[in-house]
Formats: sequence, structure tokens, C-alpha cells
Amino acid sequence: MPQYFGKLPTTNQPWTTIGAVQSINQNESTIDLSSENSHLIISILAANLIRVRFSPTTEFLPRRPWAVTVDDAEWEKVPFAVQETDTTVEIKTEQIRLCVQKHNFHLTCFDKAERPFAQDADIGIGWRLGAVAGWKQIAANEHFYGFGERTGFLDKLSQVKTNWTIDALDYDALSDEMYQAIPFFMALRPEVGYGIFFNTTFWSQFDIGAEHPGVWKMETRGGELDYYMIYGPQPAQILRTYTQLTGRMPLPPKWALGYHQCRWSYESEIVVRELAQEFRQRRIPCDVIHLDIDYMRGYRVFTWSPQRFSDPKKLIGDLAQAGFKTVTIIDPGVKYEPEANYHVFDQGLENDYFVRQADGTLFHGYVWPEKAVFPDFLRPDVQNWWGDLQKSLTDIGVAGIWNDMNEPAIDNRPFGDAGEKIWFPLDAPQGDAGGETASSTTHREVHNLYGLMMAQACYQGLERHRKERSFVLTRSGYAGVQRWSSVWMGDNQSLWEHLEISLPMLCNMGLSGVGFVGCDIGGFAGNATAELFARWMQVGMLYPLMRGHSAMSTARHEPWVFGDRTENICREYINLRYQLLPYIYTLFWEAATTGAPILRPLLYHFPNDSQTYTLYDQVLLGPSLMAAPVYRPGVEYRAVYLPAGTWFDWWSGESYQGPTQILAHAPLEKMPLYVRSGAVIPMQPVMQYLDEFPLTEMRFRVWPGNGEYIFYEDDGHTFTYIQQNYSLRKISVFTNTDQTIIEIGEREGKWTPPQREITVELVGVGEQHFSDVGQKVSLRFTHT
Ligand code: GLC
Repeated sequence: MPQYFGKLPTTNQPWTTIGAVQSINQNESTIDLSSENSHLIISILAANLIRVRFSPTTEFLPRRPWAVTVDDAEWEKVPFAVQETDTTVEIKTEQIRLCVQKHNFHLTCFDKAERPFAQDADIGIGWRLGAVAGWKQIAANEHFYGFGERTGFLDKLSQVKTNWTIDALDYDALSDEMYQAIPFFMALRPEVGYGIFFNTTFWSQFDIGAEHPGVWKMETRGGELDYYMIYGPQPAQILRTYTQLTGRMPLPPKWALGYHQCRWSYESEIVVRELAQEFRQRRIPCDVIHLDIDYMRGYRVFTWSPQRFSDPKKLIGDLAQAGFKTVTIIDPGVKYEPEANYHVFDQGLENDYFVRQADGTLFHGYVWPEKAVFPDFLRPDVQNWWGDLQKSLTDIGVAGIWNDMNEPAIDNRPFGDAGEKIWFPLDAPQGDAGGETASSTTHREVHNLYGLMMAQACYQGLERHRKERSFVLTRSGYAGVQRWSSVWMGDNQSLWEHLEISLPMLCNMGLSGVGFVGCDIGGFAGNATAELFARWMQVGMLYPLMRGHSAMSTARHEPWVFGDRTENICREYINLRYQLLPYIYTLFWEAATTGAPILRPLLYHFPNDSQTYTLYDQVLLGPSLMAAPVYRPGVEYRAVYLPAGTWFDWWSGESYQGPTQILAHAPLEKMPLYVRSGAVIPMQPVMQYLDEFPLTEMRFRVWPGNGEYIFYEDDGHTFTYIQQNYSLRKISVFTNTDQTIIEIGEREGKWTPPQREITVELVGVGEQHFSDVGQKVSLRFTHT
């Protein structure tokens, strides 16, 4: 049995408990409670946000700047009242009440209706050698979501979820640790919802009622228990606050929302040119081509193979002419190659940028280039250097970087599978070399941050060296990764089961603050059938990041390799993706401004409908468009749940009154799609790539009902949206028995879209057109 990566010495020692409250001190926004042996600080950061910190000593560790972007002191002060009785300390904000039992420090929250939540259970908080833990009750009908990147279905009740980044090769529905480690979740039941951000980068674990049904537990191998409790009750409110804490995504370039094509590998310039030509000849839209590791010279990062890619600048320029952006993969493992004039190794060694072991010797592992060393991305100087290395790529036109293997993944070569496994040493010093600053530590504390810090270095380097928005992708990350990068779910497999779990995986990422996410369409490992590929492309149309990818030694997975029928299906759904780009881009803006997910489980919009709590195989793309895909071979019909309200079939316009269950007919050409009444979906013509021609025509599809929609646009590629160089349009829909009025508000913001004709289609009723110059327009549709 290989040694479990990251497993720290455990002990069966009993947990030490806190004892009784002995002293209480109130400061501006904190309440300090001490017992004989330990210390608890409750900070009131917002009416719905409480931070709880516990130390089994009288000291607290210095603040770590890595995940939480807002210091406690930076929150605007909110009013709260503290009341002490003989047995309790009560803290009341405008939204919640917190009650601490003095005899055992047990903490319970109550909402305005006096419903308890996040209520301490068992011993509340305890500690033993090297570990601190907290226990809380699971309420009746409470369900658990988020947890970052997780396989399986939506709800994580009765599961153990470890936060420790690994190369999760061959993962399946039972896998625990994944590439990402995001110690955040939300607990929902009708009317009540709260989130927990477990603020530890050390190895940590949630046990959601597996060990003790009815009790959930959080444990860290760091020295303190530090968590933020966020009251909702709606998931949207929880995410808004959680992303205030850990940050939100910047707007990506709009082309990054188009279709991406990838393979390990399009191994030469000739193959890449052929690929690009196929897309254009077959009229299948595509914006991005990814180059996997074989573009490099012997897997040396920031080099090109002189044989296979002799003139990358010319290639990338020609691709750009044809409307393609080029993205290159970069791994953190730098080939160990002294005296070979390999600039990355030489510079890193000279400046001592690579991680050393505790005894001072250079740490090395084995990855693609065989013996490799690893930059210490925790250090700002290393981040700068790494960021600047991207310049050699951006100078020749590379528009985005795909950061891989950054858990960091380390192979056990040259020993072979049966040999001794090399792990990244947990005691390797990282951060400000030898310094005493808040960011000097060992790998044990920052293992989970390796990918996030690499992505940050990459994002900031691209920001410095490209004058416009770039695309960044990463495999590994920690809470807050959304600030720097999009994320894909690593090496999935060409299996129906993997298609099935892709939606709940991406939904849970979205519920963890990371909205720009995708899975490899068609499956990375293995060979898809035509049917699997067609169904996957339909589902992939919904992925915020829509990328097809496949592994070395597998059959090719491009849209045309499975014959005409599959090709037509792929074209139709990629076309639909492009038509929906104005709607999808608005969702990205919403994610960037509020932290809302782009792809949402139904519970996000129907949190009081218990029917949605475990519903993992239907999703909402934004607030209005719901998909009920087919993810099984040979299946042409499926049950679809329609929650309360009126729903319309996207294809036929037929309407249904929810809540109800219907049986949808879904032959291979069709993915069932539904729209909520009163919805507005802005659409554009099909293009082969994003800015193929100016957007002089648009269509607003509107469904009868009552609703309000905000439509966001900007130039799609510069940073000037930060200075209000965008356009916002409020569209309202009012329907009564005989007519619908659609009001399109005046354009707000500094950006002027090209002059255009807008067709407003009231689905099932008719169309009207107007010439849009940003004016207010009111349209009346009479129902016949
Ligand atoms: C890893 C990545 C995969 C990539 C391969 C080669 O397995 O997850 O996407 O194609 O490495 O770079």
C-alpha cells in the first residue's frame, strides 16, 4: 500500500474539551471568551457574518493573507448587542442571534423566527496532539453542498470530505481528495441556510454525519479552529458574502466563453493547422485551440520544440487571422538540468527560487521532464519571476495559459509503480526565505495553496504583459481560486457515469464560489462512442468553460470524427452556445459582481422546495434556462421535474404549470430545455468565432409572464469595464390575460454597442423589431 499523501501522524488520544467560560471581554466588534486553558474570539463582521476563532493556548497565529481578502478590521462596523445572563452570552445582530452556553462554550445561531442553526454538538470544540476540531448538529431535512471540487451527486450528507490537493487520476464517484481543496460548504433546509468557510490551509476534513449521524464535524491539522459562519438563508446571499471574503472572478475575455478544442496532443504545427482548417471548413464554431505538453522541447516549460513547432509566432499569427486564440499548457515542474543553458532552471537556481528540503538540499520529484524542481510560488519574488516568464509566450501571441499538474503532481519515476513513492516533503520551508513574516512557513501549511499561487503568478504576469484580458485555467486551487483562474475537473473518463456526475460536480464548484468551470467534453481517458460524444456535447454546451479534450493514445474526439449525425448534433449545440453568448456573458458579469454561479442546481433558485435538494441531473444555466439532459445510452425519454411556476419547452413553446413531473421525449438530436415564464434571453447570430463580424443584429427571446432582466455588455476584451465602460439594460416583462408589455430601459453606462436591429420575439405570440440606439423602448404584444 502506498503511503497516503499528506497523512499526518494521528493519535487516538481523547479530545480535550474547553471547560467553562471564565472571562468575557468585549471590544469594538469582537467578544473574547476565555477558559482556563484556551481562548475563543467571536467577531461580528456583518449582520450575517460571524468569525469564530479558537486557540487551545492563549495565543493566536498571525493572520494569513492567502485566501481571505478582507481583513476583519476592514469590514464596515455593524450594530450588535451583547447580553449576559447567568448561563449564557447572547449576541444579536440585525439578522441573527448567537447564544454561547457558559458552562461548555456551546454556540447556537438563531434566525429571526428563532429557528436554531449551526448549533454546536457533542463537545463543541476539542483538540488533541496536532489537531483541532468542531462539531455541529445536522438539522432534520438539512442538506450539504459546495465543498469545492467533488465527485458524485449534489448532496454530501453522510460523506467524509478531505481538503488536500492531489493528482486525482482515475477518480470516480467514491473519490475523496481531488485536485482542488476548498474548505467551504453550505447547509440548507427549508427557510434556513448557512455557509461555513473553514479558514485553514492545513490538511482538513469535513465529516457530514458519517461518523455520527446527525452531527457534522470539521477537523484541521493546524493549531487553531477558525471558521466563518455565513447566514443566508438563500444560497445566493451565502455566496455573495462568501465571495466578499475570498474574492470574485474578474471578467474573462468574451472569446473564452466560446468553444475550446484541446487534445494531448496536437503534436505538431501541421496537425494544428489541419485542425483549425477542419473547424472552419465544416462551419463548426471554435475560438480557442489548446496546445498540450508536446509543443515544448522535451517538456521544458517556456520552450518550443524546434522540430515540431519551428515557427510558433507564425503559427499563432495565422491562427489569429483565422479567428483562433492559442492557449499553451504550463506545468510547475521545471526540468532539473544544470549547465545546459536552460534559462528557467538556471534563473531559478541562481536566485534560489525552488523549494528546498528542511536540510537545505534542493527538493526534486519526477514529472513530465523526468527530474524536476518546483518554484516556491508562496514568495512574491518567485511569483514575479514566474509571471514574467509568461512574456516569452504572450510576445508571440499566446492569449491564455493552462496551468496543470499543480497540486503539485509528482510521479514515482524512476522507481516505477511498485517503487517508493516520492512525496512533497511537508517540512520543506516555503514563503519568505527564512523570514519571520506572516507568510513564512512549511509545505504542511501551504500544500493546498500550490496551485492557487501558481495561478495567481500566471494571472498577474499575463496582466502585466498583455494589454487585454487573458484566459487562465488551472487544475489545482484553494478557496479564492476564482480570483485568478478558471478551473477544469481534471482527468475524467469517457464513461456515461462521468458525463452524469459532471453536472453536480460543476454545480458544487459554483456553490463554492468558482463559477468559470468545465469538464473535458467527451471524457479525457478512454474512447467515447458516437452516442456518448453527442450527448456530452449537448451537456457541454451548458458548461461555463466549454472545452473538448482527450488523452494520449485514445481515439480522436473532435466533433467530426464520429460521422455526419454526431457532427450535425455537435454543430447544432455549439451553434446554440454561440447564439446564447450574450446571455452567458451577462451571467459571467453577475458572477464577477455578486459571486453567483453560472451553472446552478435547481435548489439555488428554489431553496424552499425540498424536491430540488437531491436533484442533480437537471441544471439551470443562469436564472431562466433549465436543461434536463440525457446521460444514459439508448435512452430517449426522461422524467423532468418542473418546480413552481410556468415553464415553457424551449423547442416547442409548449407550456407547463409547475410543480409537476413530466416525461420529456429526447431523441439523440435533442436535449430537453425549458424556460421560466417572464424570462428574457438575449441572443446573437451564429458566428464561427467571437468577433467574426460586428453584432448588428440581435434577438431578445421573451416568454410570457412577469419578469425583470438586466442585460450586460462591454467590448469583451479590454479592462475598461472596470471604469464603467459597459452597457446595462433593464428589460421588464408584464403579462395579463390579453397582452404582454415588454419595456427595454434606456442604456446605462459608457459603452456604446454597434448600431443594431433588435428583434423582440414574444415566444408563441409574435415578433417586433426596432433600431437600437440605446433609447427606451416599450413594446405591446396582443395575445390572440
Ligand atoms: C494531465 C492533465 C491533462 C493533460 C495531461 C498532459 O493529465 O490533467 O489534461 O492533457 O496532463 O499534459
